[in-house]
Amino acid sequence: MTSILVLNGPNLNLLGTRQPEIYGHTTLADVEAMSVEHGKARGVDVVCAQSNHEGALVTHIQDARGTHAGIVLNAGAYTHTSIAMMDAIKGAEMPTVELHLSNVHAREEFRHRSFIAPVAIGVIAGFGANGYKLAIDALLGYLETR
Ligand code: DQA
Repeated sequence: MTSILVLNGPNLNLLGTRQPEIYGHTTLADVEAMSVEHGKARGVDVVCAQSNHEGALVTHIQDARGTHAGIVLNAGAYTHTSIAMMDAIKGAEMPTVELHLSNVHAREEFRHRSFIAPVAIGVIAGFGANGYKLAIDALLGYLETR
């Protein structure tokens, strides 16, 4: 069965209590359970991981090669800073959907820049927790056309 990785970066372990006016009340456990359920409904395995550490996220991306068909990635603040994560996606040749709960383009200017977007197949932002389902669907749509 096709397997995809839903990978969350720094501070996303605090979902539900972290700035709920921006990120909502849904916890990371809720988001992960919803992603797994949505994967089941779509006939794919969804494996979830989260780390606050850039290097650990790089390793997750590297290890995804050969295990997963693609990645849904909310890199959190590393989106805006991490050349290492950009290089990992490029190097592992992993189809990756960049995802944000909030509409980063309606926020501070430093959030408008993404090191992930140039190596992603597309970007989903601003739809809250539902964005994870949208990102899974977008990734599966992409994989079907390959
Ligand atoms: C985020 C947006 C980032 O700018 C921020 O640093 C996050 C969360 C989002 O999901 O909206 O940690 O990726």
